[in-house]
Order: sequence, then C-alpha cells, then structure tokens
Amino acid sequence: MYSKEFDQIVQFRRSNRAFDPTVEVPEEVMTKSLERTVMSPNSSNMQLWEFYWIHSQDELTKFIPLCLDQQAAKTAKEMVVFVTRKDKWRQRAKWNYLMIKKTIDGEPGKLQKGGLAYYKKVMPLLYANDGFGVMSLIRQSLSFFAGLRKPFFRTGGVANQRIMVHKSCALAAQTFMLSVSAEGFHSCPMEGFDEKRVKKQLKLPRGAEINMIISVGLGTEEGVWGPRFRLPNEEVIFKR
Ligand SMILES: Cc1cc2nc3c(=O)[nH]c(=O)nc-3n(C[C@H](O)[C@H](O)[C@H](O)COP(=O)(O)O)c2cc1C
Repeated sequence: MYSKEFDQIVQFRRSNRAFDPTVEVPEEVMTKSLERTVMSPNSSNMQLWEFYWIHSQDELTKFIPLCLDQQAAKTAKEMVVFVTRKDKWRQRAKWNYLMIKKTIDGEPGKLQKGGLAYYKKVMPLLYANDGFGVMSLIRQSLSFFAGLRKPFFRTGGVANQRIMVHKSCALAAQTFMLSVSAEGFHSCPMEGFDEKRVKKQLKLPRGAEINMIISVGLGTEEGVWGPRFRLPNEEVIFKR
C-alpha cells in the first residue's frame, strides 16, 4: 500500500553524526514522532518504557559528555533517551487489567476473561522477583519441565526480563527514527554513553535502564561517514 514511500523512508534513514547547526527541528516533528513511538509493538502491551526528550540547550549540553563527547551528541539539536522500566511492571499490569475491565459491559466474554487473568496471574509470574532468586528458579523449572513434553515459553532469571523490555524499547526507537526520517530529518542512535551518569541526570531509579539515546537534527553530507554496506542477503536471510 505504502511500499514505495516506506522504501524511501528506509533508504533515507542513515545514522548522521553532524547536524546542521543553523536548522532547528520543528517541535511538531518531535511530538509527532514521539506520539508514533508509543504506538510501537511491545511485549504484552506492558509499555515498560519511557522516553525523555532532551530539548533545552542547557540539558543538551549536559548530555554531550554523558554521550562520551560523540560527534552525534555534540551537534544534536534534540535528543531522546529511551529508557526501560521493568520495575514498573506492577503498575502497567494493573493498568492493562483496568483497561480490559472498562471494556466489559455485563458478563465478560472469553477473550476478556482471558485478558484479565493474563494481567493478574501471568504477568506476576513473568516479572515478579524476590531478593533470593526463588521466582527465577520457579520460572526456569517451569520452562524446563513443561518444555520437555511440548514447546513452552522459555524464561527464567532477571536477564530474560531485561531482554524482554529492551526488545520492545528498541522497536520503539526504530519507530522514532523512521518517523524522524519521514519528516525529512536525521538521527543517530547511540549506545556509547555513561549509563550510570545518564540515569543520575534523569533521576532514574535502579530498576530503570538506558536502552539507547537518539540524537536528531538536519543531517549534513559530512555527517554520513561513508556508503552504506550490508552483508549479502544470502548470509543473513534464510528461506526454509
Ligand atoms: C543499538 C545501536 C547503537 C549504536 N551506537 C552508536 C554510537 O554510539 N555512536 C554512533 O556514532 N553510532 C551508533 N550506532 C549507529 C550504527 O553505527 C549504524 O546504525 C550502523 O553503522 C549502520 O549505519 P546506518 O544507520 O547509516 O544504516 C548505533 C546503532 C545502533 C542500532
């Protein structure tokens, strides 16, 4: 339906590390892109993410050393910090539960009943942790034993939970970058930053993690460091 346009957007998006200092990013480009970002697919609709739009020059300047003085940070007109919040699982599970409840008028249907049980019973099983690793062990054992007889969701410790929230957050980051491209601006995703200091700057709690930081601006030619090369399709795409 939008195949040609989508192709143009994908081709247009390059990581740009030198943004034009004379061109500001219209506020609307950022708000629209962030609004599109929250529409990204995410695990169980738990939305265990937050997006911190760094807009003021004062704050942008503070983020340059936090991004290790990278060129993409030094020239950024705007930045967005993509944050995972696995620590907010209780609130988000409850929110989803209540959203489903709101849709119920009279007797709940099968899907609604399933949805309510999912957020009340399955989410705690997936996200709850105790200080002793008991929950992780229960999850690992459950996956192992149930998985002996038939395919079963493999989960376990905190690492699995972290992967879950980072997956969804990275998808949100991609929606954001594609949106910025669709609006004719450029971006650069960065994982080169001091996570500890970024968290401190944003006053984030221990359970939060920084997924990536994306700088935005109008890219320049020198901001693209070379032709785009990718591995041959045969090495990475397999049809079976
Ligand atoms: C998770 C992630 C982290 C990245 N971190 C950095 C970074 O810290 N600094 C940087 O200049 N580019 C960074 N990049 C950009 C990549 O180098 C770039 O996407 C890759 O070379 C492909 O080029 P393209 O984006 O122009 O297609 C990162 C990209 C991703 C997806």
